[in-house]
Amino acid sequence: MATHPLTDIGACVFDAYGTLFDFNSAASAARDELGDDWQRLSDLWRLKQLQYTWLRGLAQHHADFWQVTGDALDFALATLKIERPGLRKRLMDLYLQLSTYPEVPAMLRELKTRGIKLAILSNGTPGMLATVVRNSGLEGVFDDVFSVEEVGVYKPHPSVYGLAADRLKTAPSRICFLSSNGWDAHSAKAFGFRVIWCNRFGQAPERIPATPDGEIADLSALPALLNQ
Ligand code: LAC
Repeated sequence: MATHPLTDIGACVFDAYGTLFDFNSAASAARDELGDDWQRLSDLWRLKQLQYTWLRGLAQHHADFWQVTGDALDFALATLKIERPGLRKRLMDLYLQLSTYPEVPAMLRELKTRGIKLAILSNGTPGMLATVVRNSGLEGVFDDVFSVEEVGVYKPHPSVYGLAADRLKTAPSRICFLSSNGWDAHSAKAFGFRVIWCNRFGQAPERIPATPDGEIADLSALPALLNQ
């Protein structure tokens, strides 16, 4: 996918989990208990977490992302037959202390010095997002942190993307949305944002409507793509 610089961008809106914050860092930090199973657990945990957001959305049985994340972890632990006292609580606590991907802090500082508004738009609850931002030392960096809890439905419902556009009082065409989740990147483009897919995991493009404006391997390439 060719990635040309984007002009007239007033705000960058970032997905949280997998884009700014490394969801693998929770299970990885518990490797002393999980051993070689840590990556399988992390993969299954993430997969189920996302599936539950979509299933709950379709069935109109919304529950917040803290519950969905815990339910997905229970499923993953049961599937892998991992039973250890205290491990579930430890992993959930670790989910509030995820590492940022290494390039993230410097990239955000660079955009901030250029006067670009910075926001998060995530499935996470307001509490989860405030905590992970604070624990990663990024407090005060974002102008806004938007949670799907304000609209009561998960991505990729268009009302989620609409929430960020409304609250930023910025036309979708002046918002650059960044996500490592291909489905989120495609869906944000279908909504009307300009979108750079941060394809950290080298995934194939999704076969759903709309195509992101560009693709980068990590967020260090973002500042050079924004011509103001
Ligand atoms: C989020 C998930 C999709 O932060 O990564 O919204």
